[in-house]
Amino acid sequence: MMKTFSSQDALASPSVARNRDPILAVLRRVLPPTGTVLEIASGTGEHAVYFAAALPHLTWQPSDQDEQALRSIAAHRANSGLPNLLAPLSLDAAAAEWPVDRADAVVAINMIHISPWRATQGLMAGAGRVLPPGGVLYLYGAYKENGAQTAPSNETFDADLRHRNPDWGVRDLEAVAELAASHGLTLTECVPMPANNLSLVFQRQ
Ligand SMILES: C[S@@+](CC[C@H](N)C(=O)[O-])C[C@H]1O[C@@H](n2cnc3c(N)ncnc32)[C@H](O)[C@@H]1O
Repeated sequence: MMKTFSSQDALASPSVARNRDPILAVLRRVLPPTGTVLEIASGTGEHAVYFAAALPHLTWQPSDQDEQALRSIAAHRANSGLPNLLAPLSLDAAAAEWPVDRADAVVAINMIHISPWRATQGLMAGAGRVLPPGGVLYLYGAYKENGAQTAPSNETFDADLRHRNPDWGVRDLEAVAELAASHGLTLTECVPMPANNLSLVFQRQ
């Protein structure tokens, strides 16, 4: 029987409306012309709907590890009726195995600072496994550069994250790039974004 999702399941994140267009501008440029994009940590699912609608030549595969997020993604998907937006997958980035063998691109927005470092390790290992040579991993979020915060707002954000969970925190760009490189992913672009965020583009060798 088909599962139904009430409108109460469809959560909203205020940051999505602010960041979705700047992110889309980068995605339009770096994503492949066709194929499947695996989104890790889709959260509410609002980005998935927005990007799948704007990029109809791509198939969008949302995922998250959290049950409430999965229900929200499914509810937004059902409301959208988009043919190129797949049902969400339960996927923990930190897991040694993912329920996906291959993706043409991997996208993770606002995830690596709000999860333990082992989730970033899993994300890089997983992207290294599922991407073909030349495949893109796209990350969006706040980063430290050369061990220092790049703005007072990021410093406050980092302190707030660490207060909520000592294993969370704004990551060092260099450490992320080094970890990525150990999984065959080369940092090819670092795009400044509004509100002191960065878009990081990695390519599978
Ligand atoms: C701040 S929210 C960002 C959601 C969405 N990408 C956005 O930008 O609105 C962080 C998300 O990361 C997910 N997450 C945290 N750790 C994860 C992991 N190990 N694997 C997959 N998702 C994870 C959480 O469930 C949550 O949905």
